Amino acid sequence: MSFEPVEPIHLPPLEVAADTFLIRAAQPALGAPLSVALNSLVIRGAEPVIVDTGTTSNRQGWLDDVFSLVEPGEVRWVVLSHEDHDHVGNLTEVLDRCPQATVVANWALTERLGPEIGLPLDRLRWVDAGGTLDVGDRHLRFTRPPVYDSPTTRAVLDSLTGVLWASDAFATPMGSEPVDRVEDLPPPMWAEGFAMFHHHALAPWLSLVDVVGYEEQVAAMAASAPSAIVGAHTPLIDGPSIERAIELLATLPATVPPPHPDQEALEAIVATIGLPA
Ligand SMILES: [Fe+2]
Ligand SMILES: [Fe+2]
Repeated sequence: MSFEPVEPIHLPPLEVAADTFLIRAAQPALGAPLSVALNSLVIRGAEPVIVDTGTTSNRQGWLDDVFSLVEPGEVRWVVLSHEDHDHVGNLTEVLDRCPQATVVANWALTERLGPEIGLPLDRLRWVDAGGTLDVGDRHLRFTRPPVYDSPTTRAVLDSLTGVLWASDAFATPMGSEPVDRVEDLPPPMWAEGFAMFHHHALAPWLSLVDVVGYEEQVAAMAASAPSAIVGAHTPLIDGPSIERAIELLATLPATVPPPHPDQEALEAIVATIGLPA
């Protein structure tokens, strides 16, 4: 019986704006011809920034990709959007290799991460939603995205490029062959996968929200006029896809997702792919 993590699909870094790179992998879905992006971000500015630190399952690929873009000794900031394992998988390695790096977290993130990783107090900055971080040639503006799966979550907008790191928001599965951009997904697949992921794997409270208040949150994010939207679990959202992505997000409370896979679905998967030896 195997307890090894699923081997991720490695994808090369994708430049999404000047000196701004999506660090990418994708995890094949269980028993379905789908995959899920596992992204983080490198901003190679005056004070280089890493946003989230990927997964342990993609450790070597992630480290190779990040440090092909920026020298470890030059990394100044490591922004954690929240403490979920797929966002902090290589944090300890980064702290070891990047002695000039300060971790950008907040109080709740520090406390929730504490049982696994004690953040070094002399290398720690707390910036909450509503806050701003000066990183030399630009500011990073922190906001709470409309959807999230940890209360610590902050989205990050780069004032120089307009790129928005949305953390888990805008998550959607890809086909078994990952794609670079959401525009490469068939539109019905994007809409259905978007609803499936948000309602069942990110924010099951969406059906409970005050719709007017929620729409105001989405409108506030849209008003920041991002030049591109990137996130941990979505292909790049740019160009005309931005407006559609905002629309998909805004209408989530009223969107009925596909059914949640249950035990019967698991048994069908096992019957199809068999149990490991
Ligand atoms: Fe998360
Ligand atoms: Fe995530």
